[in-house]
Amino acid sequence: MRSFAGRDILSLKEFERHEFEHVFGIADRLEPIARERRNTDLLAHKILVTAFYQPSTRTRLAHEAAMIRLGGHVTGFSDAKMTRAGDFYQESIKDTVHMLEYYGDVLVMRHFEQGAPHEAARWASIPIINAGDGWGEHPTQVLTDLYTVQSEMGSVDGKTFVCIGDHRMRTMHSIGYALSQFDAEMVILAPEDMSPTKDFLAELDEKGTNWRIVDHIDDVIADADVLYMEPVVQPDYTASRQEKEDEYSLTPDNYQITREVMKKAKSDSIILHSLPRMDELLPEVDNTRHARYWQEAANGVVMRMALLALVLGAVE
Ligand code: CP
Repeated sequence: MRSFAGRDILSLKEFERHEFEHVFGIADRLEPIARERRNTDLLAHKILVTAFYQPSTRTRLAHEAAMIRLGGHVTGFSDAKMTRAGDFYQESIKDTVHMLEYYGDVLVMRHFEQGAPHEAARWASIPIINAGDGWGEHPTQVLTDLYTVQSEMGSVDGKTFVCIGDHRMRTMHSIGYALSQFDAEMVILAPEDMSPTKDFLAELDEKGTNWRIVDHIDDVIADADVLYMEPVVQPDYTASRQEKEDEYSLTPDNYQITREVMKKAKSDSIILHSLPRMDELLPEVDNTRHARYWQEAANGVVMRMALLALVLGAVE
């Protein structure tokens, strides 16, 4: 297996099954640290740099919490407008990364431009972790999500993932690539203007992902093991920031999960949502047996602990 030490985590396109399994195994080993709210010294003397050009609650803070749990340190920015990259100078990724690589040992980047973390990786001598790039990918989120499926259901294999919502989204791309490595089915349910592109579907075919498209939630709800959700009411992911509008449309029924919809689902099916949510996933679902998005959020710290420990060479 390719070593993780010093490696960039940019995409799940080339991630192989044994690498998923290895990362999940490390996550299992480190999970008690997070669960028991302990701190360790596994990454003492290491520094994480966060470079966030788009807003984030979970991804940035989960990486930071993971680093602190492992005894490391954190520096960085959560708003590029307060840096030279976001003011008059519009400092390039190349110049910014040339600086940041001297300030820490691993860099986590979220950017509104697809491919920005890949560009950063060209110029950095330290590992770059993609924390979401435009509509591109969100590899650490999907590693978290599949780890959650494995922890909660025993295996990713044999599962039907019904992926509901905006399929332009970066999580939908990463999960499509990831599922090619498992014996699992990806069922796509999206509004027409948020459907996966022909090029993306061709890529899935090339990789061997078992996918199909359905028109209505009723066509598939009874088959679903995992309901994997994204909003259909959401901001432009190619912008650095979008303020809340005074008025926005509501989620059509077909892309909304309610208690009523879940009455037609398998009793052991689970719902994942990387959050934040709009009205596609109503709070009335939160205390049903299906909700696993809070566990998914908790696992976000565990998975980032595993990835940081791996790319910094603290575990093999
Ligand atoms: N799931 C996720 O990426 O959330 P944030 O945008 O808050 O990081």
